Amino acid sequence: MTSNQTTQNPSATSTRVPLAHSYDGIRQYDNPLPSWWKWLYIATVAIAPFYLLYFHVGAPNRSMHDRFNAEMDANQKKKYSDLGELTPDANTLVTYMNQKEWTDVGRSIYKVNCVSCHGPEGGGVIGPNLCDDNYKHIKKIEDIARVINEGVAGGAMPAWATRIPNKNDIVMLSAYVASLRGSHPASAKGPDGSPIADWPSASTPEPASPTESLK
Ligand code: HEC
Repeated sequence: MTSNQTTQNPSATSTRVPLAHSYDGIRQYDNPLPSWWKWLYIATVAIAPFYLLYFHVGAPNRSMHDRFNAEMDANQKKKYSDLGELTPDANTLVTYMNQKEWTDVGRSIYKVNCVSCHGPEGGGVIGPNLCDDNYKHIKKIEDIARVINEGVAGGAMPAWATRIPNKNDIVMLSAYVASLRGSHPASAKGPDGSPIADWPSASTPEPASPTESLK
């Protein structure tokens, strides 16, 4: 507290030389910043590059935002047990394709396994663009799950069935890939393969599942 007293007590500061200027008669002393403040400032500047490298440039899932998303996805996955074991048929995929809470789960699986070849947003790198209307191996929405499970092109697109053994993971991943269609990522490859018909809409049951009642 002594430093405060010195700055507030005019007799103690009278030995200091006031700065040359005066504003409306108000004179100013050239008081240094407290040293604790200076060191705090120097410490934040010194720590900043490490913070930046660790949380924003380093491995994924370190930032609070990433960890929050990862925990949300983990929580969502716990709900898998309520869903039972899903089959990646057209209806199921269309249903989950439209539910963000589940495509988020698919996206987290995609981020870990697929980004290297298909790009962070599906625009394509070694693998084709998954966001446009052209596909090489897909005619119907359920083909997505088949291609993911079995792979194509002699392993250029690897088979994931053993690497992603949870059937519901494959469903959510396929639903996410289906949901990419029509998005326009910043970096996207040109079209590969041929244009295909739109995905069926959620309210139109596939002829393949006759047990569904018509709405
Ligand atoms: C090692 C690179 C690689 C990885 C990793 C990879 N893919 Fe592929 N993928 C490819 C290639 C290459 C093709 C196209 C094969 C061809 O040209 O016939 C492809 C094709 C596809 C297709 C069919 C696209 C079309 O036009 O018919 C889908 C869907 C797909 N990948 C999804 C995925 C998903 C989901 C993942 C993550 C689980 C994944 N891929 C991981 C390389 C990869």
